[in-house]
Amino acid sequence: MRIDIITVLPELLTSPLGESIVRRAREQGLVEIVVHNLRDYATDRHRQVDDYPFGGEAGMVMKIEPIFRCIERLRSERHYDEVIYTSPDGLRYDQREANRLSTLGNIIILCGHYKGVDHRVREHLITRELSIGDYVLTGGELAAAVIADSVVRIIPGAIGDESSALTDSFQDDLLAPPVYTRPAEFNGWCVPEVLLSGHAAHISQWQEEQSLLRTAALRPDLLEK
Ligand code: ADE
Repeated sequence: MRIDIITVLPELLTSPLGESIVRRAREQGLVEIVVHNLRDYATDRHRQVDDYPFGGEAGMVMKIEPIFRCIERLRSERHYDEVIYTSPDGLRYDQREANRLSTLGNIIILCGHYKGVDHRVREHLITRELSIGDYVLTGGELAAAVIADSVVRIIPGAIGDESSALTDSFQDDLLAPPVYTRPAEFNGWCVPEVLLSGHAAHISQWQEEQSLLRTAALRPDLLEK
């Protein structure tokens, strides 16, 4: 898989996509992540990527030309399955969408900034608009990092323990059960007996029950799905 991220702040993506599981997945060649500085696609002297909005409101709007040039160059090199735009008014991003994206070959993520992009970008160049939640970030970079991170970790081979991505919270619309490690007793606080029993069937039954109980208590909306 290949993820191309287009941004005015490439530095913001270096660390989130350069550590831990994502770094290893990149090193193993499971995913190629390429970050593009949008300013490299501006043609004027000041490498301008934004401009005043028509209609005279406050704030700046991302210009269409550099974005068009960057996306066109990428598209001339390979096929892209999705061209994603990160924006608070996009579709709500969730595990189902992460799963879907992880099955694709190549995707572009354009990070929104300022008041947003010239709407013609959304009309003609973008195939999917995603929001990571109902709050406003200073830019789409952190959203792009969230999307890339959640997609990469479920690419087969990215997580050492193959089964562990499948038992994540949300993978089956349930929250994950509680986990414990040694010591079995600390400060008088004990690990549930069943986990120490070595009885695999009892353990998985307990885990399923706990998943349901936690979901009902904390995220009943997931059960309604
Ligand atoms: N850009 C700013 N806020 C955002 C959000 N909540 N999701 C995606 N992109 C954003």
